[in-house]
Amino acid sequence: MTEGLEYTGFVEDGGTPDEDELVCEFYLKHVDSVEFDWASGAVAAESSIGTWDPSLTTMRDGIREMGARVVEMDTDAGDGRNDGVARIAYPTELFEPGSIPQILSSVAGNIFGLSEVVNLRLKDVVFPSELVESFAGPALGIGTIRSRVDAEDRPVVGTIVKPKLGLRPDEHAEVAYEGWVGGLDVVKDDENLADMSFNGFDDRVEATLEAKREAEEETGEQKLYFPNITASGDEMKKRADVVLQNGGDYVMVDILTAGWGALHEIRDYVGDDVGIHGHRAGHAAFTRLPYHGVSMLAVAKFARLCGVDNLHAGAVVGKMEGGRDEVVEIYDFLRSDRGIKTTIPVASGGLHPGVVGDVVDILGSETVVQAGGGVHGHPDGTRAGGRAMREAAESAGEGVSVEERAEESEALATALEKWGTE
Ligand code: 3PG
Ligand code: 3PG
Ligand code: MG
Repeated sequence: MTEGLEYTGFVEDGGTPDEDELVCEFYLKHVDSVEFDWASGAVAAESSIGTWDPSLTTMRDGIREMGARVVEMDTDAGDGRNDGVARIAYPTELFEPGSIPQILSSVAGNIFGLSEVVNLRLKDVVFPSELVESFAGPALGIGTIRSRVDAEDRPVVGTIVKPKLGLRPDEHAEVAYEGWVGGLDVVKDDENLADMSFNGFDDRVEATLEAKREAEEETGEQKLYFPNITASGDEMKKRADVVLQNGGDYVMVDILTAGWGALHEIRDYVGDDVGIHGHRAGHAAFTRLPYHGVSMLAVAKFARLCGVDNLHAGAVVGKMEGGRDEVVEIYDFLRSDRGIKTTIPVASGGLHPGVVGDVVDILGSETVVQAGGGVHGHPDGTRAGGRAMREAAESAGEGVSVEERAEESEALATALEKWGTE
């Protein structure tokens, strides 16, 4: 046996992580035949330098010291049946600077499949500053985004063009125009709208950016359009070119379905003047179960490092799951000072003008609040729906109740009549 290479050799309970180490917090549950320290050690070993057979003939000087260490084990943190929380410290040397795929293949890779580990959840990950500095981070930051649309005192408001699939490019552009003229700052494509037979990417982008210019002229306000460029890496670059050639300054990527490598590529390609709107479609497949997968907080941390300017991060209210404490923690992280620019959290999914105030009460106004159905389902159409969202955002920013504001706004009054305030 090679000294200390057995799984339990990776446990140093009571140890302290060094400042330059990456630290992960895992919830884990194991089978009856092993103990918590063995299972935690297995996770540390397999996510760093180890494997099941500790008698490697290929070890060399210095390699053992590169192994991860379990520095804390808390078996009171679980349900008391073969489970608990383990903190694992990883020497920075284990990671390729600037590579989310490599980091995830280590700390969120093979370990999820270990037979003796019944459940595993990467709850949190804390990066040392050396590693943070190796990433581009967001290009714009929250302040730039809010000032571009002059929304420093209120949430940025937007819509997702609906129906999510089916409209032709000119129809899509017309809906976008109506939303902007109604008062919205942002119009975005939906997550499953790409280059479709009925709605080609190039035609849509050309028509919608033209509509944006017209809406800007008419309102005297700057507007934003997030065209969904999600595709393979090369194709995304071509689509980003189309956006830039037509005067756009933002792209949208479904970061989890496109993949972290593709996101890196597009962040490098578009540079520091173009924003990236990150949609998290698919996240709940591995973030939703509280005892398994990868937490949304960890996903948010990776996304920010990778350069996402706007990230769908939960809304607490609306149609999507996500508990209050969890979502607040994610929002706090995205807005906190971490040596790279901030990411603006996006509240989206089942929202309407009547709940914008709740979103702001719970999550603050440094956010993008978006509504699809809650704009285009307005009885008087998209323009009135956009107006109602804008009025709701302004009243939330001013601390005025939405009901009071509705006394002066027919669009808002109609919205509240239809959807209420919950
Ligand atoms: C893998 O990537 O599949 C593992 O590294 C397998 O390694 P093992 O044969 O040492 O378990
Ligand atoms: C999103 O992608 O976040 C959704 O399209 C939101 O749509 P909804 O406001 O109609 O739920
Ligand atoms: Mg959507």
